[in-house]
Amino acid sequence: MTNVYPTAFGMLRTMIILGIETSCDETAAGIVSIDDSLVCTLHANAVLTSMDLHTAYGGVVPEIAAREHVRSIHPVIEQALADASMTWEDIDAIAVTYGAGLGGSLLVGVLTARTLAITYEKPLYGVNHVEGHVYANFLTQTSLPGYVLPSAAPVFPMLALIVSGGHSQLVLFRDHFEYTLLGQTHDDAIGEAFDKVAKMTGLPYPGGPSIAKKALEGNDHAFTLPKAKMPGKYDFSFSGPKTAVLRQAQAMVGKDFTFASKDLPSALNEAQKADIAAVFQRVAIETVVDKTLLAYEEFQPASVVIGGGVSASPELRRQLAERLPIAPQYTDPKLATDNGAMIATLGAFKAQLKADPADPYSLEIQPNLSM
Ligand code: KG4
Ligand code: ZN
Repeated sequence: MTNVYPTAFGMLRTMIILGIETSCDETAAGIVSIDDSLVCTLHANAVLTSMDLHTAYGGVVPEIAAREHVRSIHPVIEQALADASMTWEDIDAIAVTYGAGLGGSLLVGVLTARTLAITYEKPLYGVNHVEGHVYANFLTQTSLPGYVLPSAAPVFPMLALIVSGGHSQLVLFRDHFEYTLLGQTHDDAIGEAFDKVAKMTGLPYPGGPSIAKKALEGNDHAFTLPKAKMPGKYDFSFSGPKTAVLRQAQAMVGKDFTFASKDLPSALNEAQKADIAAVFQRVAIETVVDKTLLAYEEFQPASVVIGGGVSASPELRRQLAERLPIAPQYTDPKLATDNGAMIATLGAFKAQLKADPADPYSLEIQPNLSM
């Protein structure tokens, strides 16, 4: 099933979009083109991250992230233009993440994009970061080396599982810009829970990849971990399982619930850390896969896509492939974590399908923007 837009929207021409992303600790700029058949090509994906500066704290420090965005935003945009061998004259429109995210971080990207849109007289599109993660899956072609992209864009209706450090959501897209939020986390996002369990066990930030690595040495059934029961059919909770892991770790070292979590890394041995990583990873991933399967059965989508940093998880990809009746679509890990190309891709659809541009003199950040 393909969607044919040219008749509905008039003649379309190829457009080139620059996307800017600064919602968390990645300062990123990407360049994407969209042709008259809505095929999207990646031309640049420049990312500078302040991740190393946050490692010592076990999570992102908002003030440090914002300061680093100020230092990195112009170099990263220049890098994207250079990588694409393009100049501002080639760019047809600018897209920028205006929410959800950290206030100070979003502000750097949005004010930069507004200024550039005014200076270079380009239309500006405000993009929802979480929706952007879904659109990374619409990139099917690239001239850049080292990317493995899906061979075809997802088709509608499309079920999207967005799993990142800030979000855990299941969304049903009936078409571009027409979607229903089926469910989301009531507390921690899945990536955030990985990051916290990693901190508890002394594994480095970001927690998803370090837990995945440690889990390889552990027994994923070493102890039982209850899955949270939620009132909403498609809602998640990761705070309960995270606290259950804390209690388990305290019991493993022979202490009660008063034993401080910051003292756990030195008290746990490597085998115990590996078991905690393996059990938590299995249960957290099973939680999102259970709900994805439930939504698949109810809505019978034509495609299932995953997006967000945690979509790079091999365990998530394995469980989904094993349990879903259709193959889930996901993109290159370099486009799964925060990047400007996904923002440019959603901006490209907005520009090509004639969405109204934002006012570059007034586009505001929305740190709590939801889907
Ligand atoms: O999408 P993202 O880059 O930023 C947000 O929008 O939050 O996601 C970051 C999250 C972190 O919590 C990190 O632990 C997790 O994605 N992550 C992974 C992997 N790579 C990053 N989780 C599991 N497996 C990975 N390979
Ligand atoms: Zn993200």
